[in-house]
Amino acid sequence: MTTFSIRPECPADKDAIYAINVAAFPEDDEARLVNTLRDQATEIISLVAEQEGRIVGHLLLSPASLDAAPQLKLMGLAPMAVLPEFQSQGVGSKLVEAGLKCCADAGVSAVIVLGHPEYYPRFGFVPSITYGIKGEYDVPAEVFMIKELIPQSLHNLSGTVSYHPAFASL
Ligand SMILES: CC(C)(COP(=O)(O)OP(=O)(O)OC[C@H]1O[C@@H](n2cnc3c(N)ncnc32)[C@H](O)[C@@H]1OP(=O)(O)O)[C@@H](O)C(=O)NCCC(=O)NCCS
Repeated sequence: MTTFSIRPECPADKDAIYAINVAAFPEDDEARLVNTLRDQATEIISLVAEQEGRIVGHLLLSPASLDAAPQLKLMGLAPMAVLPEFQSQGVGSKLVEAGLKCCADAGVSAVIVLGHPEYYPRFGFVPSITYGIKGEYDVPAEVFMIKELIPQSLHNLSGTVSYHPAFASL
């Protein structure tokens, strides 16, 4: 069984994080997005999965916003990447769980994700349209999901939620 630990990124991890995103995604767009968000976004949460000193997975969360409630504290989960040879061993799940805990500890109301509808519901994500909330992208409703961390914080809200402006480069 693979054992690994999850911890916040440190400056020395930057190149390894870039390489993981290049390895996991078809292009280098996500790798470059991580660097941009690190430079531009305040209050990012950036976690790495480490096994025997090697970084094998990475997860970033950055501030998002709901047009109808700009004061609401939201985070967008993206990108997440695990080295192909370490996928399907639970690394991604541990990263998501740790990321959600960091958000909860930081007083975040809810987390959004645009991703695989077979994957994220296991962490409590539901289609955001359940709350009358839409994403800024024209995608099928089931792939744009949200998880409420502070109970009732999405009650009676609707509108369109947007990721950090750096995502426009994707
Ligand atoms: C998605 C990703 C981060 C998951 O990490 P992981 O360590 O493999 O995840 P876990 O081991 O915790 O979970 C594996 C589960 O994810 C599912 N999964 C992985 N990629 C998937 C995909 N593209 N579509 C649907 N499900 C996927 C697997 O089927 C598996 O499901 P199971 O537990 O029912 O067998 C990893 O596969 C990855 O880096 N993929 C390429 C980049 C990517 O797509 N990032 C996510 C963008 S939203």
